[in-house]
Amino acid sequence: MEELDNFRQAGKIASKIRNESKGLVMVGASFLDIAETIEQMIHDEGARPAFPVNISVNEIAAHYTPEFEAEGTLGEKDLVKIDLGVEVNGALSDTAHTIDLSGDYEKLVTASQEALENAIKTIKPGVAVGEVGGVVEDTIRKYGYKPISNLSGHMIKSNELHAGIDIPNIRTRDPYQFKEGEIFAVEPFATNGAGHVEDLEQVEIFSLYAPSTVRMRQSRKIVEFALKNFGMLPFAERWIRKEFPSKLLVSAALKELLQSQMVRGYPVLRESGKGMVAQTEHTILVTNDGCEVLTK
Ligand code: CO
Repeated sequence: MEELDNFRQAGKIASKIRNESKGLVMVGASFLDIAETIEQMIHDEGARPAFPVNISVNEIAAHYTPEFEAEGTLGEKDLVKIDLGVEVNGALSDTAHTIDLSGDYEKLVTASQEALENAIKTIKPGVAVGEVGGVVEDTIRKYGYKPISNLSGHMIKSNELHAGIDIPNIRTRDPYQFKEGEIFAVEPFATNGAGHVEDLEQVEIFSLYAPSTVRMRQSRKIVEFALKNFGMLPFAERWIRKEFPSKLLVSAALKELLQSQMVRGYPVLRESGKGMVAQTEHTILVTNDGCEVLTK
């Protein structure tokens, strides 16, 4: 089936680039360089980023992507999560790994890796998503850490990164059962903090949500540009600024678009106890008796 071939291709490209990204993550490397290099690697494969590359460090769990002209660099103690996705003809992949520059958090990283391995061993048709959450939770707790309870894996469909069904990172009674042919991103997050995340004010990642009328001409132009280039997939303010250089106009327009609910924002997520966070993620296809890892 052609659609599945596209998903396999999106997975293969994401996996290759995730592995290559290890070479970019080093002390002193700039966030902007890392994100833009990875995004360029995706374009060079003839694909598109499924969302802006997330580089979330230490107690930041997810949804940070560098600002336009960001100047930050990685420090020698940073625990770095690289989360990337690839789109091929609408088919999407989503994968992440954690690089421990300090060497102090090996066990935390292992906890998230092993939780993912155990989740993958558990997933097959008829198994409930809440049961997989239990496997993730038990694995992470065995190491003495907490899973992040308000982050979850998610079903993926063509052009739809979050397709409605979640895989929790804790044991729940959610009875939804996996079915053959479904695609999911599985992403255990382990922390030595409180076990949940909170929104920060900073928002760098957006997606188009529901069209309605907007007052500002600049807002209309940004919507047209985003629809043409990113469709309904998430995009970075950084990507918009390449086309519309005025910081003031772009932030006013995004504010208007958020208020009119034409666009949704994904705030940067921080661990509530300011604990360190490790994440490992694969995209999988549910098969008749288990699952196939598309981003292996
Ligand atoms: Co991801």
